[in-house]
Amino acid sequence: MSNHYHHLGKLPPETISFFREEILKRMDTLDNGHVQFDEFLNKKYLEIFSNPELKVQYWKEQQRYIQKGFVMAPGGGLRIHKDGTRCKAALNIAIQCNPDDWLRWYDEETVTKLGKETLANYGYSGSLTRHVDIDDYESIDYIEESRVSEGDVYIVNTDVYHASKCTGPSNRIILQTKFEGFPDFETLVSELTNQSFSNLINQETVCI
Ligand SMILES: [Fe+2]
Repeated sequence: MSNHYHHLGKLPPETISFFREEILKRMDTLDNGHVQFDEFLNKKYLEIFSNPELKVQYWKEQQRYIQKGFVMAPGGGLRIHKDGTRCKAALNIAIQCNPDDWLRWYDEETVTKLGKETLANYGYSGSLTRHVDIDDYESIDYIEESRVSEGDVYIVNTDVYHASKCTGPSNRIILQTKFEGFPDFETLVSELTNQSFSNLINQETVCI
């Protein structure tokens, strides 16, 4: 099993269209690629999210959920980083993407040899993001790559160096949720495999 990426299944097209339209309606609130979830979007998410053990992380100081539509324009990308210092994993839903968009994970030693890590406060989660100053990250050897299609629901390890790229022509829009207590990748895989969304289409069921 991969230690970086775990695919859970797919959500139905009507659910994906709903969130796409709601995120697109809020593009005027876009801040550095993020459309932060408001109470309404969080409520709609919780109508289908059915795991009783996992609570969406709430940032008290900012009075908002750590849940967002992450929008990346064609040609855009995110350099090599790890998420917040306490954040270990996230649950993603591909709302809109292109077949060749990628998310890659890198070997710790390779990255630390090539670049220097700095902590940056982008104000998204209350903890510092760990960024590495490597500009040509697209040409660096990686240990794993994931490509998703619309509707895919998957868990990502955010505590291993990773980077992403939108190849276009569409904007890449990923709905990302983080959970209370900073659960790690293995915990999320085990919890969410057990129970995630009430309307999840499990791939194995579809194949039978
Ligand atoms: Fe990240």
